[in-house]
Amino acid sequence: MTKLLEKILETDPLQIPELRRVIDQIIDDNIAIPGATMVILNELQSQIGYITPAMQAYTAKRLNVPLGAIHGVVTFYSFFCTQPRGKHIVKFCMGTACYVGGMQQLIDKAKQVTGTDVGNTTEDGLITLEVCRCVGACSQAPVIVVDDEVLGRVKPNKFPQVLKKLQE
Ligand code: FES
Repeated sequence: MTKLLEKILETDPLQIPELRRVIDQIIDDNIAIPGATMVILNELQSQIGYITPAMQAYTAKRLNVPLGAIHGVVTFYSFFCTQPRGKHIVKFCMGTACYVGGMQQLIDKAKQVTGTDVGNTTEDGLITLEVCRCVGACSQAPVIVVDDEVLGRVKPNKFPQVLKKLQE
């Protein structure tokens, strides 16, 4: 087993007793109700903050459903994530207006100044970069969403300022 894989498995919530108890409690409390899969995944996301592949496999086993069914739900809904997210989430709108309005250049700048890629979190755990669908502010393209705040007309040279605010 590679060192990275070992580390990933060691730090999985299933291996941390207090988190394991939370996971089991969520499953035990909801396993018998209609629509248990969705309820349990929602609770895992809310209480643990993410649903790792190991947690997906464990949930599938406990619910006696195919792993593909759990994985399909987790990957379909953007609400779910499979790894810990940063303290702040920066989402880049990939709708048509924003894309045409220069989103790719903005993303390139963000990757450069944060040193991380879209879908990942900075090493200090502060910022996660993600993409999202149109947020309905197309006239303000290109648009990003910082935590819950929608920011419009964010040109690449403005991104360092956005970042600085988050780092304060
Ligand atoms: S396309 Fe980005 S807000 Fe609509």
